Amino acid sequence: MTTVETAPSHPRRAGEHRERPGSVERRPTVYDGFTVAPLTPHIGAEVSGLDLSEPLDGPTVAAIRSAWADWSVLVFRDQHLDREAHKRFGRIFGTLHTHPMNHARGGDPEILVVRTTADSAYTAGDGWHTDVSCEAIPPMASALYITEVPECGGGDTLYADMYLAFEMLSEPMQRMLEGLTAVHDGALPYVGAYKSTPPDGGYPRHEHPVVTVHPVTGRKVLYVNSGFTSHIRGLQPWESRAILDALFEMIATTPRLSCRVRWEPNTLTLWDNRCTQHHAVWDYYPHTRSGERVSVVGDEAPVGVAG
Ligand code: SIN
Repeated sequence: MTTVETAPSHPRRAGEHRERPGSVERRPTVYDGFTVAPLTPHIGAEVSGLDLSEPLDGPTVAAIRSAWADWSVLVFRDQHLDREAHKRFGRIFGTLHTHPMNHARGGDPEILVVRTTADSAYTAGDGWHTDVSCEAIPPMASALYITEVPECGGGDTLYADMYLAFEMLSEPMQRMLEGLTAVHDGALPYVGAYKSTPPDGGYPRHEHPVVTVHPVTGRKVLYVNSGFTSHIRGLQPWESRAILDALFEMIATTPRLSCRVRWEPNTLTLWDNRCTQHHAVWDYYPHTRSGERVSVVGDEAPVGVAG
């Protein structure tokens, strides 16, 4: 019998660990009060057995936090939430965030409307990014509740595992990046891509470590994103551009970093901005996709490896 060896789905990168990074042992799928079905072995899980329209008790909240730390992205189907229930769910993780682009919009400052129609000039988040990483303390969590999906399909969101992205780098590259900081500039997407008029004083612009340590899991995270990160401090402009472009290309061209959430009406997805990036795919023009997002202010600014 002839056996045919299949080629790996991507060439092994120089310095990539022998054992596949991200090949973590399977983690529990039963939590206190609900079960999860993994979307991939390392990022994303669908939760069943919870009704988020009702207040959640302490043990259930603790179990959600634990599942969230394990999977980074949690998908809750068939939820029927009004704005208050959506915000109550967000508040179990902390204070709700006001998006900087909400300054000119009126409406509820804690709700970001995410609605794309045939008349939209852009769709929010159509490119790899971490939400509002330009702030001094970026939102740690976002919870998007989609109520209307495009009638001919499409409109999925991809979520990339930034622990795994860090682990896939060679050790020399990891060591070099651990010592660097980068500037995250709100003008990049909000003025550059969305053509929005900045508030007085401009959109936020802050510097964060290129490699951060997740405050709950203690794992290292590659913390630069093509949406907001303008440059790495202390390097020649061309060095900074070359390194950032290489990292952004790795994220965009390595499918195994990501899970893919296929939305159905009344799906809520909670993601951890401290260890993921996402990309909302606008592949459904001229159809409509609609929902609302709340985000949660982080407890602290992103912390680098040196603490
Ligand atoms: C975003 O929060 O960037 C939008 C995500 C989405 O619409 O799927």
